[in-house]
Amino acid sequence: MSIVLRASLLDFTADPSHVTGAVRFIDDGLVAIDNGRIAACGEYAALTPTLSPGQRIDDWRGCIITPGFIDTHLHLPQIDVIASPAAGLLQWLERHTFPAEAAFADAQVCSDAATFFLDELARQGTTSACVFGTVHAQSVQALFEQALARDVRLVAGKCLMDSHAPANLRDTAEGGVQDSADLAAHWHGRGRLGYAITPRFAATSSRRQLELIGELAHARPDLLIQSHVAENLDEVRWIADLFPEARSYLDVYDRYGLLRDGAVYAHCIHLDAVDRQRMAQSRSLASVCASSNLFLGSGLFDFDAALDAGMALSLGTDVGGGQSFSMFAAMRSTHEVARLRGQAVSALQLWYWATQGAARALGWSARVGTLAAGAEADLIVIDPAATPLLARRTAQLRHAECVEELLFALLVLADDRAVRETFIGGRPAKSTLPAARKPS
Ligand code: GUN
Ligand code: ZN
Repeated sequence: MSIVLRASLLDFTADPSHVTGAVRFIDDGLVAIDNGRIAACGEYAALTPTLSPGQRIDDWRGCIITPGFIDTHLHLPQIDVIASPAAGLLQWLERHTFPAEAAFADAQVCSDAATFFLDELARQGTTSACVFGTVHAQSVQALFEQALARDVRLVAGKCLMDSHAPANLRDTAEGGVQDSADLAAHWHGRGRLGYAITPRFAATSSRRQLELIGELAHARPDLLIQSHVAENLDEVRWIADLFPEARSYLDVYDRYGLLRDGAVYAHCIHLDAVDRQRMAQSRSLASVCASSNLFLGSGLFDFDAALDAGMALSLGTDVGGGQSFSMFAAMRSTHEVARLRGQAVSALQLWYWATQGAARALGWSARVGTLAAGAEADLIVIDPAATPLLARRTAQLRHAECVEELLFALLVLADDRAVRETFIGGRPAKSTLPAARKPS
């Protein structure tokens, strides 16, 4: 059964940080979906004659179809930590985050949270994500079970943390790594799922655990890795005390072989030039979590230094340090952080990092983040007139000549109301959410 959609189309053919004309915008376009994949994509006038006679066309004219968003950093157990103020990261972890994560010792809590979490991603137009569970293997188990049933392209890992955490949230060096290896053996590569080895951050792993994590990473070069780095100055000083042998915070991970293609490091604010070189050389991916950084007062990411060093960038909401699941909000906060730094990032760069840039860095470039034929049909339908203000502000902008202005207006003004539909593997995933689970 084919689904055929008519709308404006937007995606990227290259990285707009390096190439001009990297964006493709088709005013009157058509996307055909077959068997979960994009079968054809292009101008409506050119493609309609190729459709089977009688093929229904869903008319989304006035809307824009783009690849779904990819959120490269957020936490399943922190849904209820959103909007919890604290005087900085370390106090926030202790007061709000660790107590909330302790509740995930209960399997039902894990399963309920996974349902809400996946619903919310679909509502916001996020079709892929890199997710931290808790220390409990069952948190990730619950998320993977439901993500598999929904056919979501999703990466997750249980937190490895055997030190500097409450006793009920600690694993052991051996036990934590064994659990990770078992979860990876069971879930990695099933459906569209990927496993990420997930040391929470350097402070919560002993040297022994980091050593074992390094061994697992070495034995499984196919797995992803995710962690936090250089988020907050108190944290950076703490890591320097804990690991005096390391040149820098990032160097702790480097010493254990944890920088590589497919490694995602959240924040990357307080890095130096050598760190940025190492991120770029090792092809590790930075997840810029601007909304979280503003909320917790962690610091301002240095875009110019990161891009000059050749680092790959993507965007994370960092729920619940971040206050929203919306990647529009993540892009808006990223713009604001750049401005506070005296720098500028364009709407095209932001949109690219939120879609194809992340896909490329995660090794998924032909699969998602693009409307190219053959890609998996993870798409969203965005209504640029979803609210009266959006309608007014974008009225003159909805065509190819104004694409950059249009994207900027959207990332500043849009939220989940502008996501009219989310297709995951070619199936509508937003309009089909059970009514009972829709927020009233
Ligand atoms: N560093 C270690 N754990 C966390 C976490 O849960 N959130 C954020 N933002 N930073 C961290
Ligand atoms: Zn985080």
